[in-house]
Amino acid sequence: MSSQSPVNLADRYAYIQAELARLEHAYYVLDNPLLPDIEYDRLYRELVEIEASHPEWVTPESLSQRVGGAALKEFDSVIHEVPMLSLNNAFEDLDLIAFDRRCREALHIEKVTYAGELKFDGLAISLRYEDGSLVRAATRGDGASGEDVTANIKTIRAIPLKLIGKNIPKVLEVRGEVFMYLHDFQRMNQQAAALGEKEFANPRNAAAGSLRQLDSKITAKRPLSFFAYGLGALEPQSWLPKTHEELLNAYVEMGLPVCTERRVLHSVAEILAFYNEIGAKRDSLPYDIDGVVYKVNSFSEQTKLGFVSRAPRFALAHKYPAQEALTTVLGIDVQVGRTGAITPVARLAPVEVGGVTVTNATLHNEDEVRRKDVRVGDTVSVRRAGDVIPEVVSVIKDRRPTNTAEFVMPTNCPVCDSHIERLADESVARCSGGLFCGAQRKQALLHFAHRRALDIEGLGEKIVDQLVDQNLVRTPADLYRLGFTALANLDRMGDKSADNLIAAINQSRNTTLARFIFALGIRHVGETTAKDLANHYQSVHALMDANLEDLLTVKDVGPVVADSIISFMQEAHNREVIEQLLASGMQLAVEEKMISAAIAGKTFVLTGTFPTMTRDEAKDLLEKAGAKVAGSVSKKTDYVVAGADAGSKLTKAEELGVPVIDEAAMLNLLK
Ligand code: IVH
Repeated sequence: MSSQSPVNLADRYAYIQAELARLEHAYYVLDNPLLPDIEYDRLYRELVEIEASHPEWVTPESLSQRVGGAALKEFDSVIHEVPMLSLNNAFEDLDLIAFDRRCREALHIEKVTYAGELKFDGLAISLRYEDGSLVRAATRGDGASGEDVTANIKTIRAIPLKLIGKNIPKVLEVRGEVFMYLHDFQRMNQQAAALGEKEFANPRNAAAGSLRQLDSKITAKRPLSFFAYGLGALEPQSWLPKTHEELLNAYVEMGLPVCTERRVLHSVAEILAFYNEIGAKRDSLPYDIDGVVYKVNSFSEQTKLGFVSRAPRFALAHKYPAQEALTTVLGIDVQVGRTGAITPVARLAPVEVGGVTVTNATLHNEDEVRRKDVRVGDTVSVRRAGDVIPEVVSVIKDRRPTNTAEFVMPTNCPVCDSHIERLADESVARCSGGLFCGAQRKQALLHFAHRRALDIEGLGEKIVDQLVDQNLVRTPADLYRLGFTALANLDRMGDKSADNLIAAINQSRNTTLARFIFALGIRHVGETTAKDLANHYQSVHALMDANLEDLLTVKDVGPVVADSIISFMQEAHNREVIEQLLASGMQLAVEEKMISAAIAGKTFVLTGTFPTMTRDEAKDLLEKAGAKVAGSVSKKTDYVVAGADAGSKLTKAEELGVPVIDEAAMLNLLK
């Protein structure tokens, strides 16, 4: 570089700045990396070298400024030219209908169009751009004035230091939310834990705490992100687009990050559909939201509607139920799973979380309990998201009573008293009792009877508990020897139910080899692997005698799965149970694949309620024809089969342009 003339070096410097800005925009805003990180690093090092030899070239917008600067003593105060307001909240559909009516009446029009977007759970920030350069960033504060956090904001790579494009106003104050992606939050907390540092309770606190740092070098290490959703000061006013929607599109053009989950809504019905749709996928979004926001789309209409006290009349936040709540730990027990995995569980004082009463929350494993240091008597924050088991997020240490004790993992299984062992490289502790352990036996029987295994209707938890506790059933083979009297004598079991259960057990003898293999509950052998094994071996005995080499030739079977199958089959007890089951008259059909050319190798996703069959039945049909059935929609999905009340999967398919068909069309393909 030193051999080049200064003019060339200046050009090179400008080129690198532009190139780095382009790479950062692609990576952090468009989520579409253009080059491997190593190329970025190379250019970045060159930038730093040039700046070292020409400190006079460094401007506040240089991308080298993203690493943070000298620590501050305190933040300067910033007066907001346009106040930063808050939003009125709605919790019910009725609030929303009233909001729409008020807007229509005040504007004297029949129909109002709204911009629907997400309500991000972070903190509001104002970014002031002058002639396209970021000159100041401020927190909301009390709405009238906030704190100058420019140095911190500049470390956020999703926020452009320079706007791109031609049509840039002289002054543009972009407003939006600083937040943290869930995966970034988790990674950051794991690192903090590893270093013995303080962990944050949730992504919002983590974002707020990171932005409040007086030392911007610390903020630079925190994975913050940003979405733009509003406007403050603007010069000239003539630049203003007609609608909120167009403003956000203009932001995208200028290189600002704007969330893609937004939509123009034309009626209350569309508003509610948007709310429900986002609600359905809330748990799978990569960041926390606490609601959606509707804003009257037209700026002239917004101006007419104006403000009441501190909130605009033209916007409304429609909240979802909270997913976190505080409660106290009454006790910590351990549970034994099907494979003997020991899971510590917190017994909680009942608390409502997101509309459901929660009394237990998983603590995952021993290391997690230690890391969070959960103790009996503690006040904890409990989180429930979607169908996921509620979990203890964190302990409110300030509220810890005196005389609490650290959690100690029991050394023996609470059910069968066998030793609890934990392999050095595993996070999970296991009961060593195997099928001697009543808990494992119960789980094994429930798995055996599962709808997608041998499908024994009526053999639920309550019945299995009694059968095992009364020693009527020890292995699945015992099920086929149960008599009417034994069953009819069980609690909650009438003669009719006993008859039905016996019929269901008898019927389950007619099954497929794949279901039978799955039903055995071999560790790591799920439904798909069971099917592959059935196809490959065609008989139970062939599988029982399979060797490692041969197992490894089966599709998707690796060393871990193969090992697990071999050790299962080496266990004399397991072989005995299999022989007994076969002797009790099992008919194991080897399914013949009716490969259909239109379908083989294609990936389907099923959603909604179908007119003539269940989704499980449809799945079986498709798989028999050689198709794959996946749980979520991606670019690789070939068809989405949608029935009534299809939700977010349908939306996703439409977004990605994946063909959507109904049950009839699917059956046609199968012909
Ligand atoms: S607009 C004049 N839009 O909610 C309207 N706010 O209660 C001002 N927020 O402080 C806000 N997502 O931190 C708006 N899409 C969104 C938002 C949003 C989150 C937060 C923001 C603000 C608070 C208002």
